[in-house]
Parts: sequence; structure tokens; C-alpha cells
Amino acid sequence: MCAHILATAAWPYANGPRHIGHVSGFGVPSDVFARYMRMSGHKVLLVSGSDEHGTAIQVKAEAEGLTPQQAADKYHGIIVEDLQGLGLSYDLYTRTTTRNHAAVVQEMFSTLLRNGCIVEKTLMGAISPSTGRTLPDRYIEGTCPICSFEFARGDQCDNCGNQLDPIDLVNPKSKINGETPEFRETSHFFLDLPAVADQLKSWLDSRTDWRPNVLNFSYNYIKELKPRAITRDLDWGVRIPVDGWRDEDLKRIYVWFDAVTGYLSASIEWARRSGDPEAWRAWWNDPEARCYMFMGKDNIVFHSVIWPSMLLGVNGESSRGGEKSGWFGRLELPTEIVSSEFLTMRGSKVDTSHGHVILVRDFLRDFGADSLRYYISVAGPEARDTDFTWDEFVRRNNTELANEWGNLVNRSISMAHKNNGAIPPAHELTEVDTRLLASSKDAFTVVGELLEQHKFKQAITEAMRVVSSANQYLSQTEPWKLKEDTNRRDTVLHVALQVVSDANTLLTPFLPHSAQKVHEMLGGIGVWAAQPEVRMVEEDEGDPYPILTGDYANEKAAWASTPIIVGTPLAKPVPLFRKLDETLGDTGPQWAPLG
Ligand code: MF3
Ligand code: ZN
Repeated sequence: MCAHILATAAWPYANGPRHIGHVSGFGVPSDVFARYMRMSGHKVLLVSGSDEHGTAIQVKAEAEGLTPQQAADKYHGIIVEDLQGLGLSYDLYTRTTTRNHAAVVQEMFSTLLRNGCIVEKTLMGAISPSTGRTLPDRYIEGTCPICSFEFARGDQCDNCGNQLDPIDLVNPKSKINGETPEFRETSHFFLDLPAVADQLKSWLDSRTDWRPNVLNFSYNYIKELKPRAITRDLDWGVRIPVDGWRDEDLKRIYVWFDAVTGYLSASIEWARRSGDPEAWRAWWNDPEARCYMFMGKDNIVFHSVIWPSMLLGVNGESSRGGEKSGWFGRLELPTEIVSSEFLTMRGSKVDTSHGHVILVRDFLRDFGADSLRYYISVAGPEARDTDFTWDEFVRRNNTELANEWGNLVNRSISMAHKNNGAIPPAHELTEVDTRLLASSKDAFTVVGELLEQHKFKQAITEAMRVVSSANQYLSQTEPWKLKEDTNRRDTVLHVALQVVSDANTLLTPFLPHSAQKVHEMLGGIGVWAAQPEVRMVEEDEGDPYPILTGDYANEKAAWASTPIIVGTPLAKPVPLFRKLDETLGDTGPQWAPLG
């Protein structure tokens, strides 16, 4: 029953603080899933880190007058705070500018090269005429030669999902300054995707249960598999481990090859930090282990096609064969790629370039982590692009969190505190009592199955159904009127408190901060839902840097109804959620005004 579950979240570029669009794609979904899996008794490893190489970081550094490393240091620190504030329970959130990461990426590259899956070729590289520097694919925009979408990028068309090279674009322009790039011949290493095409196809064919958006993008991509360049002309990235290339100042490994390998390097770093350097193998080498990768939809093919191709190659499972068990051993391919769609605002992607960006840190400061986690889970872009509106945020916060859930907790605990000062005993149960108790017990199976399938919206809706049933139960049984019949009143309050406890467990993966509070309000002690901590670490004699990690194995939360203990003292409860002023729905907050 107990399985090894590797959960991964896409690595954010260390080029700015996170906004709510970012964390609705990779952040909250991966954490809800990981928390649920831990509560179900599985051995979970949730890893990610900051994506610090490549042009996104160079461009930002230049704009701020920093070196790329300084910019990466600055934004890695800020992102760590954003993610910690949200309560994302990473076993390790690290970064790509570590020595460990470079070593793992180079080992990956060398193994693929030895196995014949990396070939050297020339290509036409884009150069910015004004700076003379390489223009990275992502920073070139033009019309897609396949579907005529006007805003295709040099690496990919987000409209039809096809892989592109910058030179294919019709009317290419630099996104940085609008100029037309020049193309020059340059030598590079390519990942030989056609060599894994058959394996990849049959593997994808076996993935019938993936979300349709993921399968669509992936099949589209593999229709025409070409070798793909995995090195670039730039001076910020992991060096190429090949004689004659290693010391070249303007050649580096492509940031995507580097970043996806982060899942493996972070697992290896985690194992080393945990004191058992081989511990990562239980999640990577064991065919029984499962791996779920969470991300936004613009990341799909890198996880569903490129990364699995790299794994097939190192495993010696391409048409070129090769060594079957190098240092890595046989690496398992992901079980599932879980991609969300985009969080939009008034129809366009939430993005630093459009309008008022809603930063995670501003949101957390004013409204708290759980209200954002709730909104993303119940109304986020799980299966289609979805608009964030302040109006809906205020409405859901006030009616669902404050009125429904907060109020249920508050009134049941207040009444029991006032009448008994402790959890009252249950006497004879009537049919309404047993029905409510049974329905909240059953919810563990229903909500659990939905969470296994990462159907977060449905899962949280089912959990909230228990909350509504409990509220109806209280309206129906009216314990506040049972002044004469204290036995019946005790029974009703006991049942209500049991269901509050059950609902709190069901909501824990979504609302871990308030779940801890409810646990304590019910007289519980110790850590119910563990939270990530920032730790400063260093490698060899390098500079210290912050990581996120946590002691999740010892948290008390478990995926089952836990019987409440009669006689446990109860204190007067404090409100769980704050009601927001309704005008906020019309105006937005000062730092992100509407209109
Ligand atoms: N940094 C990339 C982005 O924000 C995501 C990288 S995910 C990984 O789009 F696979 F590379 F790790
Ligand atoms: Zn297209």
C-alpha cells in the first residue's frame, strides 16, 4: 500500500517575485497532492528549485545592473519567501546554480553522448544586430509557419503546440527590443529525438489517463520529431562536458536540458542532506515508485516529451542502445504529467507585461495563504484558462470560507465551550446523527479518489459538501434550543464536533494553516500539518544560500476520521477567516486597482 511518490513542481525562473498565475500552475496543485499523499501514508518526495540559468535571468540582470549570479541570488531568495509563505511543503526547494546540479547535468549529458543520443550539427542561430549577442529562442516572436498564429515564440507555438526553430518563424522579431534578428551558422549538440521516437510513442500510447491537454500537446509535438539543440551560444549556464567545448566561453548547455534535470539533481541533493546519499534511488530506480510532475501548460512538452526522451536515452533504451546501467541506474519515466491551464485576468494571461500583476507576497500579506490556496483549488485554471476576479475572490472567501466553514467551526466549538468547557459525550444517536457521521466518513474515500487523480476542484467541492451538511444538521437539530434536554444537546454537539474534525482533515491538503488552528481549537496538540522552513545551507566552501525543507514525516495529519476524545478541554474559539469588505470586489486592493 505504502508507495514511493515523487511529486515535482516546475522550477520558477529566478527573474522576479512570483505572481498568482505562477503558483496556480505549479505551486498549489503540487502541494495539495503531496500533502494528501503523505496523509495517506505514502513516502513522498516533493522537489523543485529556482531555474537560474539561461536568458530570462541574463535579461533581468542586465535591466537591473546586476551580474546574472547576483540577480539569481536576489530572486531565488524572494521566491523562497513567496513559496514558504504559501505553505508549499517542499522536501527540497533548491536552485540550479549549485555544484551538485552542474555535476548531475553533465553526467546526464555525458551518458547520453556515450549512448549515441547526442549528435553534433550546425544550425542557424539568431543574433541581435545591436548587441552582437545570441538571441534566445524564447525571446523571438513571429508568425507560426504551421498555424499562422501571430505570437509564436522561437521555441514553440502556444497555439498549435508545435516545436519551432527561430528561423522557421515568419517575420521574426526580438521581444527584447523589436529588432529583426540576423541568423548565423553555429555548431551545437542536438538531442537525437528520432532515436527514441518509437519508444516514446509507445510509452505515450500507454498514458491513456492523462489530462487531454497534455496528450494533445505531446502527440502534436511528436508528429515531426527532429533532433533538438541542447547547447546554446551564451555565457550563462552549465558548461558542456566535452573536450574542446568545456572551456568555450560562449557555449553552454541549453537551460531546459539543465532545468528538467533538476528534478533528479534535487532528489540527489535531498538524499545527501538527509544523511543517506543513496536514498533518492527509491523514487527513481524502483519501477513501483510513482512520479507526478506539476506545471503550467507552457511547460508540457519539456516534461512529456523531452525529459522522457532524455531518460530513455540514458537508460540505453533508444534505437542506439548503449549502457543499461550507468551511474544513474535505470531511471523511471514519469507516471503522469499534470498540467494546469492559464490563470487569466480579463481574458489575458496573468503576466508581468499586462496590467496589474498580483504578487504572491502582497496577496499573502493582506489575505493570508489559505484564502489564496482555497481560491486556486476551487476556482483555478485546472482544466481551462480561467479568469481571476476580485469579485469572485471576495465572494468565495466570505461565503464559503468565512460563512460556511469558519462559522461551522466557530459555532460548534463555542457552544460546546460554553455548555461543557470540553468535548461533550454522545448519548443515544438518532438517524440524522448517524447519517451525518456516515457521510463525513464516506467523504474520505470520495475526496481521496479525486485527489489521487488530482481533480482538485471536485475534491474540494466534495469536502465542502460535508461542511454544508454539518451546517444543515445544526439548523435542523438546533442545539441552542435544547436547554432542557442536555443529553440530546451533548449528543448533537459531539456529532457536530466529530464532523468538524473530519472536515478539517478533508480540507487539510488545501488549507494547512487553518487546519493546524482547528486542530488546536479542538484541543489537539503538536504539529497537525507541517510547514516548510527556510534553512541556510552551503556546498563545500561556497556561499550559503537558502533552501526550503521541512519535517513532514512527523506531522499528525492522517487521511482518516479520527475519533474526538470526550472530555478534551475546549477554549473559546477565535474566528478562522476574516470577512472581506465587499467593495474590494469592485475596486481591487490599492496595490492592484481595477479599472
Ligand atoms: N523555468 C521554467 C518556466 O518558468 C520552468 C522550468 S520547469 C523545469 O517556464 F522542468 F525545467 F524544471
Ligand atoms: Zn502554431
